[in-house]
Amino acid sequence: MKQNSKWHYDEFEQVGVDYTDLQEVQAYDLRMQKLRNIKQECEYIRGLIKTTSSDCILEIGTGTGELALDFSAYCRKVIAIDVSPRMIELAQKKAKSQNKSNVEFQNAGFLTYESTEGFDAIVTQLSLHHLPDYWKMIALRRSYEILKDGGKFYLRDVVFPAQIKDYDGYFRKIISGLRKVVGEKIAEETEVHIKEEFSTLDWIMEGLLKSVGFNIEQANYYDGFMASYLCIKKEHGV
Ligand SMILES: C[S@@+](CC[C@H](N)C(=O)[O-])C[C@H]1O[C@@H](n2cnc3c(N)ncnc32)[C@H](O)[C@@H]1O
Repeated sequence: MKQNSKWHYDEFEQVGVDYTDLQEVQAYDLRMQKLRNIKQECEYIRGLIKTTSSDCILEIGTGTGELALDFSAYCRKVIAIDVSPRMIELAQKKAKSQNKSNVEFQNAGFLTYESTEGFDAIVTQLSLHHLPDYWKMIALRRSYEILKDGGKFYLRDVVFPAQIKDYDGYFRKIISGLRKVVGEKIAEETEVHIKEEFSTLDWIMEGLLKSVGFNIEQANYYDGFMASYLCIKKEHGV
């Protein structure tokens, strides 16, 4: 996607947490390894999208590359992209130390990645909220275009319910819950997330996915602010 228009969104400019900062990236990696069961997450997603050994997979917003590295053991090829050069460097180091030859990390994003092949599946976690809603739609449209017919799109992100009467109370409860369970740093990052990043509402996210042509096969809402969607690109002409 050419970026020469003055109105084009610059996805390389960081909003909210600065993932171009090396210390931030290293701390993120350690924190995620401690707080998440990444192996289990990957196993669940692989099962859901039914990966096969011939699949070519794209991960968008890979961060430090854990999912891409896991998937590469089960698929023919994985391409993983991120707008943060620091994230990509760390992911590349991991790939090298694990002798991975079928995973490729590139410094690009939803709006700038130029694909040379069709993908069997695209996976993106905790990244789409970095784009404002109009640009989310462009990002989803671009993802749809590079999927093969019948290809799967798995999205997991922070999405807010539209039916809340008291949003101040709702956000306070989320932040104090996180402070108790996962500590001050994540609580602080959540405040920045709500203030500066672009998590949207459930009906908007579903509308965006449908508007670009996806069939939503599964939509799960959990923990009060998380959502995951399994979508399929309709077979040509269906
Ligand atoms: C919260 S981290 C999530 C990383 C990883 N997916 C995970 O689950 O741990 C968000 C990531 O999205 C990346 N990101 C932000 N905007 C992006 C964009 N427009 N395209 C691709 N990646 C983006 C950030 O650089 C960061 O690595």
